[in-house]
Amino acid sequence: MLGKKITSICCIGAGYVGGPTMAVIAQKCPHIRVNVVDVNPQRIADWNSDNLDELPIYEPGLADIVKSTRGKNLFFSTDVSKGIADAQMIFISVNTPTKTYGVGKGMAADLKYVELCARQIADEAKENKIVVEKSTLPVRTAQSIKTILEANSSDVKFQVLSNPEFLAEGTAVEDLLEPDRVLIGGDQDEDGLEAIELLSEVYANWVPRERIVQTKLWSSELSKLTANAFLAQRISSINSISALCEKTGADVDEIARAIGADSRIGSKFLKASVGFGGSCFQKDILNLVYLSHHFGLPEVADYWEQVIKINDYQKHRFSKQIIDALFNTVSGKKIAILGWAFKKDTNDTRESAAIYISGQLMQDQAEIHVYDPKVTKHQMIKDLVYAGYGNEESISEKLFVHEDAYSASDKAHAIAVITEWDEFKTLDWTTIYDRMLKPAFVFDGRNILDRSNLTEIGFDLRSIGKG
Ligand code: NAD
Ligand code: UGA
Repeated sequence: MLGKKITSICCIGAGYVGGPTMAVIAQKCPHIRVNVVDVNPQRIADWNSDNLDELPIYEPGLADIVKSTRGKNLFFSTDVSKGIADAQMIFISVNTPTKTYGVGKGMAADLKYVELCARQIADEAKENKIVVEKSTLPVRTAQSIKTILEANSSDVKFQVLSNPEFLAEGTAVEDLLEPDRVLIGGDQDEDGLEAIELLSEVYANWVPRERIVQTKLWSSELSKLTANAFLAQRISSINSISALCEKTGADVDEIARAIGADSRIGSKFLKASVGFGGSCFQKDILNLVYLSHHFGLPEVADYWEQVIKINDYQKHRFSKQIIDALFNTVSGKKIAILGWAFKKDTNDTRESAAIYISGQLMQDQAEIHVYDPKVTKHQMIKDLVYAGYGNEESISEKLFVHEDAYSASDKAHAIAVITEWDEFKTLDWTTIYDRMLKPAFVFDGRNILDRSNLTEIGFDLRSIGKG
């Protein structure tokens, strides 16, 4: 269809996926010009900032890659039309949040941004193009994209591929440089297979061929939702067992080690926690639940919905445990929250358990004192307002943000560790203990603290899944 190798790529959406993914493609494919475009001018200005600390996304190793490629073959721009017109291959990497209105509200993926991209591609394309779904999408979305493209453009031919992204935040660069697999789905006719091959050639610049998995379009789209559902299911499974551990005196970390040693189960994603967060697990499972209902499969929908229910239960259990331990009230008490990001090594806070836990405690009139190495106060307030815990003014009265863990926990009644930032493991816990009110409670929502050390110091330490 294109009849030649790819030398120009455009990516619509300069977010957590578009930015790092394109930076790595640019680094590994110096012969390809990579244009990342976005409607958000601030985001683009931040990607273009001279100060690499100001990149809109924090990921270990990312700034160095951007530094070595930006202005050479990697460009960030707000000119979406030109980006589309100049490229042979266009990645759609825009957000696909859960719908907040109308049919499918609270469940289905909101595809309005994807649809806008498809319409704009149809308007701007003057030559044949390969359109790549990088965003996570419901199965059969490619059909809708094709319909829009074909209905709005008569002379130009399009191929739509599905190439879902499996990177995890905090390890995005590592995951992109050495992916377990790259998945490419497309039509199985001559043009479809040619398009699959052209995209495979791009990745083959650094990914071993045997890790490039080629499938039918629908298998690729559904594999992405399935992968996230399986990963989240493991966390909910171990978290459900953590509740049982607390009742029986069993230790959830020992159980994870024991079952993970079985090669059929494997050891990854068995870390009990205060609940999974992040922009995708919940949204993608809700989407899977919605699709199952849509296709008349209520038993399948109920099965996957339980993964979300256990996650909500886990977050609720944690905040209730804090209130119960603090003599049934946190009113007027100072609670230090260590960590706001949904996991370590990222500044992303979407669906972070910290929002829910802090919101619950604030509703019980606690004073919340937070320290996170990467998240700003502005972001925390935004998160709490968005989650419905009050307005900016009411939240600002109860939320205090600190420069370090020592100041956050000074005269605190309790500390809750929500994010597993490495620095929390090596804090001077004796100093923290001396400055706290007694009894000094620590709720370790990640099971990262040294139990014998903290209990010896005098803390009343409550960990997840340890009776
Ligand atoms: P994001 O919100 O960080 O970025 C999306 C960007 O798209 C925003 O900057 C937004 O301004 C831009 N955008 C929206 N509509 C646009 C339009 N019409 N034209 C130009 N720009 C537009 O989102 P993200 O985290 O990068 O996720 C993107 C997709 O990738 C989602 O479908 C998500 O499910 C999937 N995904 C995310 C991750 C992750 O770790 N965040 C991993 C794998 C897959
Ligand atoms: C997840 C998947 O791991 C990626 O493969 C996928 O591409 C991505 O979603 C996506 O589609 O957005 P991400 O959400 O960035 O990546 O991070 P994870 O490492 O999966 O962690 C998700 C949440 O689960 C975090 O809150 C983490 O702390 C929690 N978690 C993870 C646990 O509680 N226990 C574990 O054992 C592992």
